[in-house]
Amino acid sequence: MNERIDVESAIQWWQRAVIYQVYPRSFADSNGDGVGDLAGITSHLDYLAWLGIDAIWISPIFPSPMADFGYDVANYVDVDPLFGSLADLDRLLAEAHARGIRVLLDFVPNHTSDQHPWFLESRSSRDSAHRDWYVWRDPRPGGSPPTNWLSNFGGPAWTWDEETQQYYYHAFLPQQPDLNWRNPEVRTALEGVLRFWLDRGVDGFRVDVIWQLVKDAEFRDNPPNPAYGPALAPHHRLVSLYNADRPEVHEVIRGLRAVLDEYPERVMLGEIDLPIERLMSYYGESGGGVHLPLNFLLLITPWDPARIDEAIRRYEAALPAYGWPNWVLSNHDTPRVATRSGDAQARVAAMLLLTLRGTPTVYYGDELGMRDVPVPPDRERDPFGLRLPGQGFGRDPQRTPMQWSTATNAGFSDVEPWLPLDTEYATRNVEVERDDGDSMLRLYRRLIELRRTPALAVGSLECLPQDGDVVSYIRRGADASFLVALNMGETDRQVTLPEGCHGGVVVISTHLDRQELVSTRFTLRANEGLLIEVTD
Ligand code: GLC
Repeated sequence: MNERIDVESAIQWWQRAVIYQVYPRSFADSNGDGVGDLAGITSHLDYLAWLGIDAIWISPIFPSPMADFGYDVANYVDVDPLFGSLADLDRLLAEAHARGIRVLLDFVPNHTSDQHPWFLESRSSRDSAHRDWYVWRDPRPGGSPPTNWLSNFGGPAWTWDEETQQYYYHAFLPQQPDLNWRNPEVRTALEGVLRFWLDRGVDGFRVDVIWQLVKDAEFRDNPPNPAYGPALAPHHRLVSLYNADRPEVHEVIRGLRAVLDEYPERVMLGEIDLPIERLMSYYGESGGGVHLPLNFLLLITPWDPARIDEAIRRYEAALPAYGWPNWVLSNHDTPRVATRSGDAQARVAAMLLLTLRGTPTVYYGDELGMRDVPVPPDRERDPFGLRLPGQGFGRDPQRTPMQWSTATNAGFSDVEPWLPLDTEYATRNVEVERDDGDSMLRLYRRLIELRRTPALAVGSLECLPQDGDVVSYIRRGADASFLVALNMGETDRQVTLPEGCHGGVVVISTHLDRQELVSTRFTLRANEGLLIEVTD
């Protein structure tokens, strides 16, 4: 018994948590300018508490020219007036904490805005005190850029500065110059930023493009990518060997982690878009790196039972002993799950996300079954889409306003929102789904509630053999064992419990209409997932 209590108390809050991503421009507009804000988030905390989530991660809210909608920060230690003020953030923190909800901010250390005073100063002269805070290089003989590195948003990653006759490096837009993390002053300044927010009571950070912080010391050219094809964004023409995932980045991350460790119970999520084996190195040696290197496997794996099953096994097998898993189903950079998997499978996807081992991230609106909204060219806003027109890279469709009610503008705003609303918002919204016992929202809420049982929160996971359209696994804890069986196909399937399982009780079906005893063989209906408490 004592041993069990010890094990339980060693588990951190974020291991049991369900994290909810808020894209602040699109969550709730409190001041009638068509763009969401902090007061809007605060006014909906009761909803989030009702939903049962433990923490919110808010995409950037800092002063910014919004060239990349806040991922171009012009001041790390303030709030953009579009979103409110520091006082609004303090109120949000206090109100969230009062409801037991933790708050994570988005930390964007790889690059600043070109309007950040550091960059303005850096660019002002080669002798400026901040010159070396960014990545400046001479041209190659003949005047071409120093390396062949490409911008993630299309085009070269180097921009020529006429005034000082050098190129500066930007992994994204020219308006997002990369900081030079080899410079100790940069490290000290950005670590100070973390302390500023931690002192204010922020519970942690999602760190933007953390795997790209350090670039090759020798500025070598990237090799061509033999796997490049037309579906990939143009920068994938080259393998990002020398401008990302450099070994020295881990020491920088240890420094950031050490700052978080000065405070109790804080957490660092890292955006790391790398193959699984490389991703694992970001836990750091013995777990001294990122607490949760974000796992994008469900985002990138086609919605196919064999592929999903393989992804789960591969991820679980690759985890180091000290690595706590996590799963992301949608985010602001990728089409929504309901669009990728289809409406019928979105429920199965919800059950998958919320019953896998590890911390799940729910993207705002997924709990309603929100889909990507087609955005006509004249309303397109995302720079990625605008720079590569007509190629489907735009991220606006997954960033449309939250659908709160049947009211005008879905209760998001009193005025026309910055991005169009789903034409079906009148049937897919919080108000309607809250009152509908069978809704997607009700399914999410119930799954989040069930996840609190120790077996689902922190128990073990054992994958069962994949069988046709059915993916299944067992979660075991000291309290109970659950079988999760997911039918990813459109026909009914017979499932046989593994040997040693003597039947059980259906705790929840994704159709929310089934609670019965099942014997060792049972039917899984088309597009149905079941969570069954089994007796061994
Ligand atoms: C990350 C963000 C993305 C942003 C980019 C540049 O990938 O998730 O939205 O555009 O970094 O900061």
